[in-house]
Amino acid sequence: MANTQPSRPIILAIDGPSGVGKGTVSRALAEALGYRHIDTGAMYRAVAWKAREQGLPLDGEVAVADLASRIEMSMEHAALIVDGVDVTRAIRTPEIDHAAATVARMPRVRAVLVQRQRALGRPGGVVMEGRDIGTVVFPDADVKIYLDASPEERARRRAADPTHGGSAKALVEVATALAARDQSDQTRAASPLTIAPDAILVDTTGVPVEEVVERVLEIVRSRLSIDD
Ligand code: DC
Repeated sequence: MANTQPSRPIILAIDGPSGVGKGTVSRALAEALGYRHIDTGAMYRAVAWKAREQGLPLDGEVAVADLASRIEMSMEHAALIVDGVDVTRAIRTPEIDHAAATVARMPRVRAVLVQRQRALGRPGGVVMEGRDIGTVVFPDADVKIYLDASPEERARRRAADPTHGGSAKALVEVATALAARDQSDQTRAASPLTIAPDAILVDTTGVPVEEVVERVLEIVRSRLSIDD
């Protein structure tokens, strides 16, 4: 693994669709760079989880946005704590997959969470992963990466992910759910998943995680040596 650190703390934006391995890659990048890792998808999931817990209907956008502005979220040693409850596992269920996609379609909720994400990322020294980091949250991010992989490979990775219910689920079921979420994420009116014009596309199909991480670190280094 490379040990050259960028000369200043940067914002590294990692976007891409579900099941592409953003979490694993972003965590490894943050570790290699000595940066914070912020998983913005987990923030949408946290809002969905809390709304369900409180019995808040998911069609009440104003109330859900209010909730999004009030909940306390903190990342501690890869655990996500929401209002004092460790929800690390609870937010990775098929129900919350679905509810989070619903919440993520709401412009008011997005506005609240985008503000919170900007506040978290602004000091720099951060790897922020999501769907709209390079397009909306930090259009001026120092380096923008868009990770992609074939739908088959994404379904395989997601099915094998123990945080997503483990191996019991049929691959075809996972693939169908992923395709539905792709459709939802790419066609929603508010900040649909798109590739920023200045993002660098990294196709991870058939590429081991360590190699993806190494490629991204190489991009970070070359970008910064050009800019500095
Ligand atoms: O990455 P994920 O599967 O944990 O994201 C959960 C949901 O939130 C998913 O439907 C995409 C959405 N999302 C978003 O709209 N914008 C982000 N920056 C991150 C996630």
